[in-house]
Amino acid sequence: MAGNWKMYKTPAETTAFFEKFRPLVEKSEHCEIVICPPFTNLSAAAAVAKGSPIRIGGQNIAWAKEGAFTGEISGSMLIAAGATHAIVGHSERRQYFGETDASVLKRAQAALEYGLTPIVCVGERLEEREAGRTAEVLKKQFADGIAGLTEQQFAKIVIAYEPVWAIGTGKTATPEIAADAHRVIRGEVAAKFGKDAAAQVRILYGGSVKADNVKALMAQPEIDGTLVGGASLDAVSFASIVNF
Ligand code: PGA
Repeated sequence: MAGNWKMYKTPAETTAFFEKFRPLVEKSEHCEIVICPPFTNLSAAAAVAKGSPIRIGGQNIAWAKEGAFTGEISGSMLIAAGATHAIVGHSERRQYFGETDASVLKRAQAALEYGLTPIVCVGERLEEREAGRTAEVLKKQFADGIAGLTEQQFAKIVIAYEPVWAIGTGKTATPEIAADAHRVIRGEVAAKFGKDAAAQVRILYGGSVKADNVKALMAQPEIDGTLVGGASLDAVSFASIVNF
C-alpha cells in the first residue's frame, strides 16, 4: 500500500503524521507500506519511520547521477535521505512536466541502478477511455516504457495502474474496470517477460482509493495493492486502508 503525498505537507506536518500513523500500522506485517512525501520531507519521514515497517519513497528520480539538472533529485540523494522507493511516470508528471514513456524508462532504470524500487505508473485519460482506446494506450505505455527493462530489472519493479480520470476526482474505477486494465497490463508482461514474471509482478491500483472502497478493489485477485493520493494524507484514513 503506497501513499503519494504529491505537493502536500511540511517537514513538521510529516513528523506529526508519522507519530500518529506508526502505532496504527505497527501490527501490519501482511503488507508493505510506502509513503512518498515531497523531497524536502524525506529525511523527516525516514527519521520517524526508522525501525518500523514503513518505507519511504521519492515522487520522482533523475536519470542522471549528478550534474546540471536544475530541479532534479538523484538516486544517491534519495538514498541518503532514507528512501527505498521512487514513483516514476505519475500522470501529473506526464501531463504538467512533459514526462514521456522514454523518460519514464530512463528514470526507472536509474532507480534500479541505485537499488531503489520504482513504482512505475501507467493509465489512460478520460477521452482515451471514452474512445475505447484504454487497452491500446496501456500497451503503448508498456511497450515504449517498461518493456525496455531487462528481465532482471523488471523483476524488481512495481507497476501502478492509475486511470487519469479517477485521480483526485472521487470517481474510482469499479473493481471490474480496474481488474480488466490490470489483465491487459499483465498480458503485456507475460508476452514480454514470461508467465512467471506476470504472475509475480505487483500491480497497484490508484485513483480515488479510500477506506470505504479499498476492500472491494482488493477483492479482485488482479489487484495487488493500491497507490493512494488524497486519502494517504490523513493518518487514520491511510491506516484503515493499510489495515483493511
Ligand atoms: P488520489 O490520487 O488517490 O487522490 O485519486 C492517486 C494518485 O495520484 O496516485
